[in-house]
Amino acid sequence: MLLPEAVLINGQTGSVSPETGRYTKRLSDLRQIFQDRTALETIVSERNDPIVYEVVEYKKEGSDLFFGTTTMEPGTVGDEFFMTRGHFHKRRDMGEIYYTQSGHGILLLESRDGQSEIVRMDPGVCAFIPPDWAHRSINTGGEKLIFVWACNVEAGNDYGEILQRGMRKLVIRRNGREEIIDNPRFAE
Ligand SMILES: [Fe+2]
Repeated sequence: MLLPEAVLINGQTGSVSPETGRYTKRLSDLRQIFQDRTALETIVSERNDPIVYEVVEYKKEGSDLFFGTTTMEPGTVGDEFFMTRGHFHKRRDMGEIYYTQSGHGILLLESRDGQSEIVRMDPGVCAFIPPDWAHRSINTGGEKLIFVWACNVEAGNDYGEILQRGMRKLVIRRNGREEIIDNPRFAE
């Protein structure tokens, strides 16, 4: 039988205690998702392949739910902000929540039939990600963007489609401000 447990989450550091797993994505792991490959390689070599984001999770064997934090570093590659890979869930009937703790960003969502939406990620905002919407978080601020996520353990991540064709919109910095533009390289 699973027992209840209090899990301490620090919204300023992204720590989860107790934690059951974590992974880190460095810029070199994300070569496919940024437009400006030359800028990316320059950053990888000159800044020692910086961390873009880190995920820490709490997952109990036998539970239907799991949750954790994602901590995203600030930064840009060319004019694109640091972002996550973006994914659909394997299970098309399962959504998720992203509850922003600190920092500022944009949650970019795309429905299966091609509709784009954003939810601003500011502290206190809990974004509802409906089933079958691809989602990518983007740190548009100058500090870490930290959020808590929670979903069904069976939701699963399907990265392939977004990696292959990209998302329809890009979030870029132009003249010091964020802008949402059509992705010139988007391929159906
Ligand atoms: Fe997800």
